[in-house]
Amino acid sequence: MLPIHSFEQEIIASLSTGNRLVLTAPTGSGKTTQLPQMLFSSGLCPGQIVVLQPRRLATRLVAQRVASEMKSPLGQLVGYQTRHDSRTTDETRVRFVTEGIFLRLLQSDPALPGVGAVVLDEFHERSLAADTVLAMLRVTQSSLRPDLKLVVMSATLDAAGVSAYLSCPSVTATGRTYPVDVRYLSQPSSAPAWDLAADALGALLARGDEGDVLIFMPGRYEIRRTIDACSRYASEHDIVLLPLHGELPPAEQDAAMSPRSQRRVIVSTNVAETSITIDGVRHVIDAGLARVNRFDPRRGINVLLIEPISRASADQRAGRAGRTAPGTCLRLWTEAEHRSRVAHETPEVQRLDLAQVLLQLLDMGIDDVASFPWLQPPPALAIAQAMSVLKLIGAVGDGEKLTPVGSLMARFPTHPRIARLLVEAARRGVGERAATWAALLGERDILLREQRQRHAEKASEADGPRSDFLVLENALSMARAARFDPGRCAAMGVQGNACREIDKTAQLLREACESVPTRSRARVSAERELPELLRCLLLAFPDHVAMRRSGQTLACGLVGNRRGELDPATVAQHVGPVLALDIREVGSGGGVKTVLSLVSELEHDWLAAECPERFAVKTVTLWNDDRRAVERVERVMFDDLILEEKLRPDSGIDAAQAAELLAEQIVTGRLRPAKWDASVEQWIARTRCASALFPERRLIGYDKDDLTVIAQEICAGATRWSQVEDRPCLNAVRDALSWDDQQFVEKMVPERIELPGGFKMKIEYQLGTPPKGRAKIQDFYGLSQTPTVAAGRQRVVLEILGPNYRPLQTTEDLAGFWANLYPTLRKELARKYPRHEWR
Ligand code: CDP
Ligand code: MG
Repeated sequence: MLPIHSFEQEIIASLSTGNRLVLTAPTGSGKTTQLPQMLFSSGLCPGQIVVLQPRRLATRLVAQRVASEMKSPLGQLVGYQTRHDSRTTDETRVRFVTEGIFLRLLQSDPALPGVGAVVLDEFHERSLAADTVLAMLRVTQSSLRPDLKLVVMSATLDAAGVSAYLSCPSVTATGRTYPVDVRYLSQPSSAPAWDLAADALGALLARGDEGDVLIFMPGRYEIRRTIDACSRYASEHDIVLLPLHGELPPAEQDAAMSPRSQRRVIVSTNVAETSITIDGVRHVIDAGLARVNRFDPRRGINVLLIEPISRASADQRAGRAGRTAPGTCLRLWTEAEHRSRVAHETPEVQRLDLAQVLLQLLDMGIDDVASFPWLQPPPALAIAQAMSVLKLIGAVGDGEKLTPVGSLMARFPTHPRIARLLVEAARRGVGERAATWAALLGERDILLREQRQRHAEKASEADGPRSDFLVLENALSMARAARFDPGRCAAMGVQGNACREIDKTAQLLREACESVPTRSRARVSAERELPELLRCLLLAFPDHVAMRRSGQTLACGLVGNRRGELDPATVAQHVGPVLALDIREVGSGGGVKTVLSLVSELEHDWLAAECPERFAVKTVTLWNDDRRAVERVERVMFDDLILEEKLRPDSGIDAAQAAELLAEQIVTGRLRPAKWDASVEQWIARTRCASALFPERRLIGYDKDDLTVIAQEICAGATRWSQVEDRPCLNAVRDALSWDDQQFVEKMVPERIELPGGFKMKIEYQLGTPPKGRAKIQDFYGLSQTPTVAAGRQRVVLEILGPNYRPLQTTEDLAGFWANLYPTLRKELARKYPRHEWR
């Protein structure tokens, strides 16, 4: 009897009055294995009961368990279906499927014929597929299928939120759990997780605690290392070490699950976190890491990355030790580190690239994605970005409607970019090899870094365009020849396990390609295959085109007005256009540089032929700073990336445009004609002052626009600086004012003021400060008041110089000077300069 059984009546009652239910119960209480059976025996659903699982491994294992509980061979009453295999028959009434598979099922027929109930298990994982399915089912139930039953189940779900979203009751089943003693590392450690785990296991075994041990590691690689590290305890303590992850052969997966007399140490991915219950576990050792699906801006697709798990996940993992008796959990991180971890994982809908799901929704006829009834809507920016990617690769056209290519792409279980590659390649008869490339693109690096060169040399021997894909293909075929044996592969510098996965994925994608109608039956010749593939790749990644302009440096221009540098390890080394599938920003010496890897060489002609709408030949007139001349160049462009630039004859240059460009040099101050001298600047300053002192006269102020017009006039007819630099300027500047206004400026803001003794004192004007004049003290004799300009509106600041031309006083008040300072000054000066006149 499991905890869930006490709630059976309540569950069945609410599903017979309504068609939706949210069920929350702790892990191990019987949701996954019992609820489908309850639904089946209640007779509430005439059709199939479909149970969704986030993971392939759990899908098969729980199907197997339920089949045995129902005493029916797997594949008959109870079946399952994942991307990799399936066991179902016409008799199957309870079918376990992965979320991705179910989304495709919905896509092909949203009415779900033959399905009586859908159960979303492990909903707390909040995968993008599960969120999409939930919203789709809500729509389906309220339109096509009001009779369809829907159950959402989880161990840690925010039940109130989901039941409000579905407007349905929720049942919370409580179960007995035992206390778990949670411990942490006493200090942070940088040792590999597998070594830490082995030490922890050693200590646990030494203590003599009873019960099986469950160790959490992020992936198969870490699991293998952990088992290696722990094997030293195996004989001494009579334990058996068992791996558990999705890529194991089914028999080995089953082995980890089945009870045995020996004490078990199971090393598992997060599949054992909530999806699968392994009876007998009393101790958990948690590396605290998981492979998480993330958007990788480098490749523009989602990839799996290893990351620290949230506090909520860690609690779930710890709970696995307390299901049947009190247990222990050791976390391989410190308590302080624990506090700084996030509380919960962010749902995928909030953080992943939405291009694929958007394409699927469009394919289901949901055009208005923004108002799709998400449980939690994705950021508007993410929708817009995904839409622009779909446009970029031709999946949607005008009005955001699916194109015929787009509907073909929607059938592929991959990111739309990869689907684009595959559809295009399949049409052109190179789908088989494209499937391998696609699989390579989605996986982490299969080459050990230090062995790259060896493989690169082999791949660059061939004729034709060079591509890093050839390097990877070469490595993959070596791994295949070695039957993916990790040891033999490692000796060749290849990751055997990763290659095995790629091989499997490639096979699936190859099958998917078969549904695409090919354009011609004829086989593509061997030498045309590679160019054809690269052309297909270009259609999927047109925003990854770069251009290497010189063999001297690795610098490249990139589409989107970006710059980057080729990875020195790339084999695609030609000067010309390239396609870089991995665009990564790395810190370098305080700055950030963009490194382009996974590169292939392209040919110009392909760009024009495959993307005519992005390809353009434009003649532009521009300023060449080196030659100080306006030039006409013909540019070959791919979007905003210049592929080629050729100088055209000067004769065709538009005169007005040339004058504009030359004038720009003057106005911005980069260049200045010889005769644009102090007299010009002084005239401009005088006019500006006049304009400020007489606002009612509305004189021009020689602002940037005025100067631009004037400079263009000076530059008229010229195309190079040498023709301009000696041209006269003053008249052009003055003539911006009418003759009347020029006279007005001359009169009101005079260049000089005549002093009583006949000296014509020069006045300096500068906007914002009063005008200034300077003269020797004797020149001011006979002048009692400060002189003014602008018809008395503005006094002049006077600098009164001594006989040695040193300033004696600067003043705006000449009368005050004579009255106060001068009498004493005079005596002093007369003594010092007896030969001068002193009045
Ligand atoms: O889904 P939930 O975590 O609520 O529980 P479940 O997976 O249905 O498992 C209920 C119980 O069945 C577990 O506590 C295990 O005791 C048992 N079980 C098992 O022994 N072996 C399996 N493969 C699956 C379940
Ligand atoms: Mg479960």
